[in-house]
Amino acid sequence: MSVHKEIKKVTTNVLQEMKRRGEKIAMLTAYDYTMAKIIDSAGIDVILVGDSASNVMAGHETTLPITLDQMIYHAGSVIRAINRPLVIVDLPFGSYQANSKEALNSAIRIMKESGAHGVKLEGGREIKESIERILTAGIPVMGHLGLTPQSIYKFGTYTVRAKEEDEADRLLEDAKLLEQYGCFALVVEKIPATLATKVSQSIQIPVIGIGAGAGTDGQVLVTHDMLGMTHEFSPRFLRRYLNLYESMGNAFKQYIADVKSKDFPSDKEQY
Ligand code: KIV
Repeated sequence: MSVHKEIKKVTTNVLQEMKRRGEKIAMLTAYDYTMAKIIDSAGIDVILVGDSASNVMAGHETTLPITLDQMIYHAGSVIRAINRPLVIVDLPFGSYQANSKEALNSAIRIMKESGAHGVKLEGGREIKESIERILTAGIPVMGHLGLTPQSIYKFGTYTVRAKEEDEADRLLEDAKLLEQYGCFALVVEKIPATLATKVSQSIQIPVIGIGAGAGTDGQVLVTHDMLGMTHEFSPRFLRRYLNLYESMGNAFKQYIADVKSKDFPSDKEQY
């Protein structure tokens, strides 16, 4: 029997057991109560309250503007909805880069004020002290390597990362270091599939990919993208399971038409 079916509450240990048994981990983003409730009832393993909320919820061009208070608001809404999945929250840009004390304080605020189960930070060896300090408080940490959107102005583009040997070697070393520091899992974003497979086979902790091929221990997508609510963003790795942009648009048009034509509300839709 799969770990997925047996488990009432997903923990970091459960995810590691899934990797050992070769059972793939399914992760999706959520930022609000209603969406998180639907995702939980579908049986997801992990919900990421990603700083992609900055793009999909607030309409910013990058993930940089979202604040710690805003992340806590989103995380609290998700936590109130869920029963089974592990809920991990991104530490937003500017809430952990200055020093490890700031990182710990930000992680503690997320855990205390939202009730989340762990945090995710972008980066490798350069955030060693922050990871270790957060772990001393008993807070699980997920790493994030490859395309790290909080550093978009350093890289300049959202193209595939670690295509060159030097960068690929460094990424693999960073993945091993994140495991050594104590991260319970790792996201790899937009890197070649062969490299992502090698990373997953080289470390014991689960590696969850986005745009990183089929060889990782799990997959994550931004929910609004996989539902087809966002329609301008079409990277090769994205599989759209619905075209909600179109069907929601049609529903809204129909409602407007019904109001204008006085079809809505009918006699049965009033008191
Ligand atoms: O913020 C986010 O949604 C993420 C995922 C793309 C992994 O970090």
